[in-house]
Amino acid sequence: MKVLITGVNGQLGKQFKELSETNKDFVFTSREELDISKNEEVESFFNNNKFDCVINCASYTAVDKAENNINDSMNVNVLGSKNLAEATAKQKALLIHYSTDYVFDGKNNKPYSEDDISSPQTIYGKSKLKGEKEIFVNAERAIIIRTSWLYSKFGKNFVKTILEKSKEKQILEVVFDQIGSPTYCYDLANLTLKILPEVVDNFYTKDIYNFSNEGVASWYDIAQAIIDIKNVDCEVKPVLSDAFQTVAKRPYYSLLDKNKIKNDFNVKIPYWKHSLKRCLDEL
Ligand SMILES: NC(=O)c1ccc[n+]([C@@H]2O[C@H](COP(=O)([O-])OP(=O)(O)OC[C@H]3O[C@@H](n4cnc5c(N)ncnc54)[C@H](OP(=O)(O)O)[C@@H]3O)[C@@H](O)[C@H]2O)c1
Repeated sequence: MKVLITGVNGQLGKQFKELSETNKDFVFTSREELDISKNEEVESFFNNNKFDCVINCASYTAVDKAENNINDSMNVNVLGSKNLAEATAKQKALLIHYSTDYVFDGKNNKPYSEDDISSPQTIYGKSKLKGEKEIFVNAERAIIIRTSWLYSKFGKNFVKTILEKSKEKQILEVVFDQIGSPTYCYDLANLTLKILPEVVDNFYTKDIYNFSNEGVASWYDIAQAIIDIKNVDCEVKPVLSDAFQTVAKRPYYSLLDKNKIKNDFNVKIPYWKHSLKRCLDEL
């Protein structure tokens, strides 16, 4: 089974590389090696290489920057998705792609299911939703995994930022009115690799699945858990989102209903605090 993993320098891409580097059938590409937004580059790459599955970790993910860089965000998240969808369709390969809770408006009071109406409130969310649609139109076989609040030992993320700041400051103010569930990249990559043999052989349609860690938390809860697990001398103060002005408005409610992925693939998902501890043990 030949597998391509794009966007290998991102945190999810790096996680995949760590988990499957020794597998000679896996090929990893960075933006420099394969820019998914460039149609000719993608076509030429796929003319020279054949795959059974493409796992797309490449994305424009700068949520605030996207508000003023609409074209960049759309080029990668919409055109890039279309290019990969067309290329995989020609090879009858399965495309596994990641999307986001930001496709929703965050006004729910119960976990979002895959069928809930999407209504993105940011350019990033809009670009990811349009990317999903391009995949539905142009791919032959595709799994879109919507996920939320990624963190890992790689790259820049909330967990690493809190850990660093808690060592410098006596008090950290963290919002407690945005609710969701964090996702440990290791668990997401591991889940993807676990279902890979089955879906490459048997998945001949296009569908969306939700995935995050189990449980519910606010950013405040996560920050407090980091301080507790690492035993750092720092006070975490809960504040309302209004205390922080961000260019892009964050959804208040991001919780994803994961019953579909659990039932269809018979997988168990780790509780967020247990996964957080595993990540912090590595930092
Ligand atoms: N991070 C989150 O909290 C979060 C939440 C929900 C969903 N997701 C989704 O999860 C997926 C993985 O996210 P992540 O956190 O791993 O993102 P990330 O760390 O920002 O990594 C994205 C990677 O994509 C690469 N890239 C950007 N434009 C590209 C292009 N035109 N062609 C090829 N590569 C390109 C980037 O390259 P450079 O290294 O050169 O910049 C980067 O290495 C994305 O689909 C994202 O939308 C993330």
